[in-house]
Amino acid sequence: MISKPFILGGKTLPSNVFCSPLAGCSDLPFRKMVKSFDPGLIYCEMVKMDALIRNDPNTYRLLDYTIDMHPIGAQLCGSRPEYAGPCAKICEDLGFDVIDLNCGCPVDKVTKDGSGSGLLKRPERIGEIIANMVAAVKVPITIKVRAGWDSTSINCTEVAKIAKEAGAAAICIHGRTRSQGYKGPAVWDYIRDCKKEMGDFCVIGNGDIFDAKSAEKIFAHTGCDAIMLSRGTFGQPWLIEDIYRHFEESAPIAKNSLYHRDTLLRHLEIIASYQIERRALLDMRRVGCWYLKYGAGTRRLRELINAAKTLQEIRLLIESFPWHEVEFSTKTSSDEEAI
Ligand SMILES: Cc1cc2nc3c(=O)[nH]c(=O)nc-3n(C[C@H](O)[C@H](O)[C@H](O)COP(=O)(O)O)c2cc1C
Repeated sequence: MISKPFILGGKTLPSNVFCSPLAGCSDLPFRKMVKSFDPGLIYCEMVKMDALIRNDPNTYRLLDYTIDMHPIGAQLCGSRPEYAGPCAKICEDLGFDVIDLNCGCPVDKVTKDGSGSGLLKRPERIGEIIANMVAAVKVPITIKVRAGWDSTSINCTEVAKIAKEAGAAAICIHGRTRSQGYKGPAVWDYIRDCKKEMGDFCVIGNGDIFDAKSAEKIFAHTGCDAIMLSRGTFGQPWLIEDIYRHFEESAPIAKNSLYHRDTLLRHLEIIASYQIERRALLDMRRVGCWYLKYGAGTRRLRELINAAKTLQEIRLLIESFPWHEVEFSTKTSSDEEAI
């Protein structure tokens, strides 16, 4: 069952509800927040293979984690098979429990050298990269893909077969194509079709999981073994716990506006302890927007956070806000949050 231990490539994880890599978002403070709700696995933001090889310090910083974040995954982005083994080894040496290959990033500057979703155009290259990663390390290797490059070239099942053959432990399928970007609904049929074809091979469903109900639906619709949460956790890290409780048939923990305030303040304090002030202010613009977006009457607070010059100013703004007047509605879609 859902909140019970889940085995991935020989590793025992606390559950089959995972948190996805999110470039520019799943930084250490974000991961600390989601970790407090006990996901099965959390991934860091993707890192470029060539930047790891170059020992780029900013890239290493994306892989910062604290010991309590285990089990934790790193995600590699690149298209050169000769870099894949050494990079996987670097991640294993850094203590990562799982290493993923990104075959989903749609951004032009990533796909133009054949990386990210660009790899979907060369599935045999994916096989070479995975095989090199598998040969270099003992930890499980996973792969995260889009359903295909576009609706006329859906090939996630073909890629799953290649990845399995090369030794991968699982495939995560984001049910959108590269051409779709983040627009329109994720098509879970692609995940279902792949799972049907792949038998025992672990398939992780991803896309449009914004509440406990959609988590239940994606499991039921696709037969996937695990799910990966993405934008659904923006400003609601408690989604993981909501999902566990839903499957245990217990009511979700009630969250009044003060609960939202306190969670936002907790996120702020983690950012404050991790980033220099200038960077923390920028991060709080993004994070404040996530937490406040669904609160009626919080627009002015968001604007003030965006204009604030110090973290202390943001703290005081949040603390002195009349939270009892705010009603939060449920998040149902995250289209507008896409990069
Ligand atoms: C801001 C942002 C950054 C993302 N960064 C990554 C990434 O680094 N690696 C990756 O595999 N997917 C990345 N994704 C894709 C998500 O992991 C996920 O597949 C996608 O958002 C679909 O799930 P959702 O509809 O539940 O958000 C990113 C998505 C967003 C919105």
